Amino acid sequence: MNRRYRKTIIAGNWKMNMTATEARGLFDELKPMISKAKWCEVVLCVPFVDIPLMRRLLKDSRVTVGAQNMHHEPSGAYTGEVSAAMLKDLGVKYVILGHSERRAYCGETDSLVNKKVLLALQTGLRPIVCVGESLEQREKNLTLDYVALQVKSALAGVPVEKLRQIVFAYEPIWAIGTGRTATAEQAAEVNTAIRTIIRKMYGARAARSITIQYGGSMNAKNAEELLAQFDVDGGLIGGAALKASEFAAIIQAANQ
Ligand code: 13P
Repeated sequence: MNRRYRKTIIAGNWKMNMTATEARGLFDELKPMISKAKWCEVVLCVPFVDIPLMRRLLKDSRVTVGAQNMHHEPSGAYTGEVSAAMLKDLGVKYVILGHSERRAYCGETDSLVNKKVLLALQTGLRPIVCVGESLEQREKNLTLDYVALQVKSALAGVPVEKLRQIVFAYEPIWAIGTGRTATAEQAAEVNTAIRTIIRKMYGARAARSITIQYGGSMNAKNAEELLAQFDVDGGLIGGAALKASEFAAIIQAANQ
């Protein structure tokens, strides 16, 4: 973390978990634990159908609500899809884009992710852009090249004045939901590489103010060490965000 130049952001990604009833239960547990989040921003990226409820419940708190996806077109005949404008209208602030699960199961490509990034920015939503390599790519020593490609294509056409709205999340695919976390050194290496790419594209001032999270089996035990890395500015948390005490402990680690 480096609080001088950029915000630390702890974001929970509930994925396809939590009915509205369950979400209310988790909120009741979380509420007394998260009121003290002073130094970091806390975001809950919840399923679309939980957004109105969570917006209501979190109204007077410092916790903001995010979504996990949006369509790449502004509106139209796309049955079953949700637009950026709909999210904005509900008071959503962040939207996760290009998560590896959507890349893998829904065929999302780098160019589609780029379209979504541009539309999110135009609509006033802050994209949390996920990048990260597979185990095979890591073993072949392709991690930095692959992540560089993902970062550059996500940013195609993004002007420097909009760059600060973007958050990156480095999520190695082999660490997601596996209990196998990247070491602090591995996370730091890739996060630093991402910042270097941004520096080359947009200059030093822009690069140092962008938040770059780590995600992949982050939990109460490993959060402190990961967040101690200079270029790890927060976390995107899956499984551990579904347990109030675990999520609160990660926030606590970011608050130190
Ligand atoms: P886990 O924390 O469950 O590994 O999930 C990480 C993730 O994919 C967050 O977007």
